[in-house]
Amino acid sequence: MSSDSMTTGTAETAPDHTVAGVDVGDAALAAMLRERLGDVETMLVDRLASGEDFLSEVALHLVTAGGKRFRPLMTLLTGHLGPQPDTDRLVKAAVVCEMIHLATLYHDDVMDEATMRRGVESANSRWDNSTAILAGDFLFAHASMLLADLGPAAVQLIAQTFAELVTGQMRETVGPGAYDAADGAAGGAADGAAGGTFDEAEHYLRVIWEKTGSLIAAAAQFGGEYSGADAEQIARLRRLGDAVGIAFQIADDIIDIASPSGDSGKTPGTDLREGVHTLPMIYALEADSPDSPRLRELLAQPLTDDAEVAEALDLLRASDGMRRARATLEKYVDDAMTELDALPAGPANEALRRLVRFTVDRVG
Ligand code: IPE
Ligand code: IPE
Ligand code: MG
Ligand code: MG
Ligand code: MG
Repeated sequence: MSSDSMTTGTAETAPDHTVAGVDVGDAALAAMLRERLGDVETMLVDRLASGEDFLSEVALHLVTAGGKRFRPLMTLLTGHLGPQPDTDRLVKAAVVCEMIHLATLYHDDVMDEATMRRGVESANSRWDNSTAILAGDFLFAHASMLLADLGPAAVQLIAQTFAELVTGQMRETVGPGAYDAADGAAGGAADGAAGGTFDEAEHYLRVIWEKTGSLIAAAAQFGGEYSGADAEQIARLRRLGDAVGIAFQIADDIIDIASPSGDSGKTPGTDLREGVHTLPMIYALEADSPDSPRLRELLAQPLTDDAEVAEALDLLRASDGMRRARATLEKYVDDAMTELDALPAGPANEALRRLVRFTVDRVG
């Protein structure tokens, strides 16, 4: 295509490289993915529409509101790295991942007292906490039905993943103070602290791998397993998911501070109101600048006052904590790209790189 035709309005003939708003760099792959994502959407809505209207309405509330469909895309795209990228099991597994994700969103908004999600009123705000919790349980039940079709290994993977996810949400709630000398430092996904050393950043990294990385790793593992990838590739896909998942949550936490109101479909400053110390805050608190005493004072407890939230956001936006958090985020992106270097090359590999970049570049 000539550059002229790109600029003179022949958009209907220009090849479409996008899927769910992401330029994946290849028209044939994009067309295939759009079709498969359409299948995911149909199955998601059909399943949730079955049953009583009063429950379906709540469970479909966030499905129809929007969302990036990042986890289904991970499953479908990692599935394109294997020898059989067209199995129905990939679609089913992608639906399971979105349902589990949705269940956690309903529950997370109750925990975080959030009023906005995917650009609409959250379920807990539009209805009430009990309704939102039950909708989350309904989603989990439907994911379990699909898992039963996929077999015991899939049930095991998601059961394990859900346990990790819930542990992460709980670990965030109990806070880093639970790491006292008696228990020693946290082990597991994040490393770097000596036994007994209190380390807020380590606590944070462990939480975000559990609450976000575990499901993204499972989405990538499904992609490998249901496309016939070998054991070594599946292990690599999991590591890819771990790194992408951690980067994804750091990006989300930067956006909670940096994004103008409403851009993310959520309310900025939610982490400050909940008293959750995210990576930019942890780094900002470690710094020694003229703003540090005031920032320490503000972040010492959950904020309830709108003016204080605005003040803390301003101080954080100007802090070196944001730069350091972006640098840490890039380190995990590098890890993801290194895993991709060792996976089969081709359009799906390139598309995964673009998906990762697109996702983390939301932080600006
Ligand atoms: C939000 O996930 C919860 C996190 C793990 C940060 P997404 O950013 O994928 O939310 P949707 O699905 O696009 O709404
Ligand atoms: C929770 O993190 C991620 C989940 C596992 C749901 P957040 O609380 O930061 O997610 P958002 O910002 O509300 O989507
Ligand atoms: Mg939240
Ligand atoms: Mg939360
Ligand atoms: Mg968030």
